[in-house]
Amino acid sequence: MRVPFIDLKRIVDPIRQQVIEDWTNCLENCEFVGGAGVQKLEKTLMQRLESSHVVSCANGTDALVIGLQALGVGPGMKVAVPNMTFWAPFEAIVQVGATPVLVDINPDDLQMDFDEFRRGHREHHFDAAILVHLFGWTSAALASFRSFCRSEGITLLEDGAQSYGVRAGGESVYTAAQLSTISFYPAKVLGAAGDAGAIMSPDPKVAEKVRALCNHGRAGHYTYDYVGWNSRMSGAQAHFLLRMIEQVDGLIASRRVAEDYYYNHFEALSKHCRVFKAPSGVTGNGYLIVIESLKQTGDELAAKLRDLKIGCARTYPQTLCEQGPAQNALRTSDLKHSQRFSRMVINLPLFGGITLEECRMAAESLEEAFGQ
Ligand SMILES: Cc1ncc(COP(=O)(O)O)c(C=O)c1O
Repeated sequence: MRVPFIDLKRIVDPIRQQVIEDWTNCLENCEFVGGAGVQKLEKTLMQRLESSHVVSCANGTDALVIGLQALGVGPGMKVAVPNMTFWAPFEAIVQVGATPVLVDINPDDLQMDFDEFRRGHREHHFDAAILVHLFGWTSAALASFRSFCRSEGITLLEDGAQSYGVRAGGESVYTAAQLSTISFYPAKVLGAAGDAGAIMSPDPKVAEKVRALCNHGRAGHYTYDYVGWNSRMSGAQAHFLLRMIEQVDGLIASRRVAEDYYYNHFEALSKHCRVFKAPSGVTGNGYLIVIESLKQTGDELAAKLRDLKIGCARTYPQTLCEQGPAQNALRTSDLKHSQRFSRMVINLPLFGGITLEECRMAAESLEEAFGQ
């Protein structure tokens, strides 16, 4: 590949020596599950995510399942979820025994559509919803989602797996959420050396329940208040994440520079594509460059980019309703926006530490692919 879609080695190399020392200390102290590193990470995340309670867990999918359970979502309840997202929110709803209801995206911000959500509620009477902050920004209607859910008694979980560093209305997207989650999958803006995640809530009682659920529902060592899970973070992951946090602001800055480069480059190619950016009032984190092709399909462009040795992705090439286990799921419309967008989307390389020369090569290659 002339330009990789992602290069994790580039962001691990600068912290390699410190991580080796931290992991050696973990071995010396047998700091394996939980411990001082995990406690320090949770405190650091409280400041970084601007959330009053942070509970670390094993991954972002567990965070969703446990978050739903902590909020009392279970069998017989209907949970709205955007039709275009990663599969995990759908899985989490089904895993807690609830019923997913698929909602289309807004074609301008690519997040769950607020008007369709509101109309869908009249028909389906949602008990809960998962609002997913996708692609490195959030819905232009975030405040409306929150106030509508509050006034209608709809439990709202916000999936912030991809949104470390995203701000809306002047505050971190995690601050005012009833309950939010994050994933530290290695390719995320803040990534671990394996799977890891966390759950945030401003409510100390909810956070206490989340902490118990992540640890078998424990009340004491051998007493249990809930039927929970084993979803705890290891010391090694926490120390790795603490080192990553030391450099994450620089990584986000380089992502934003690259995002701006792509945005400016493709603005002049509006007959071939549309490039998406955070809506006004939202500060994005440069997680993904999302390009909607207007003529060729995403698959056609991806094949041409591969021939030109440019890494690329299609996030997401199929929507939830097109997946076997979701084919008969309830829905609020024909879900046409999300299904159409999924056929046309293409993502170019964008990662912490990417150079402008790499962006130039990728952008010019896509331009060449448009012309072929
Ligand atoms: C939107 C979204 N939700 C949930 C997850 C699940 O997180 P994890 O892979 O840490 O389980 C991911 C990513 O991987 C994601 O992108």
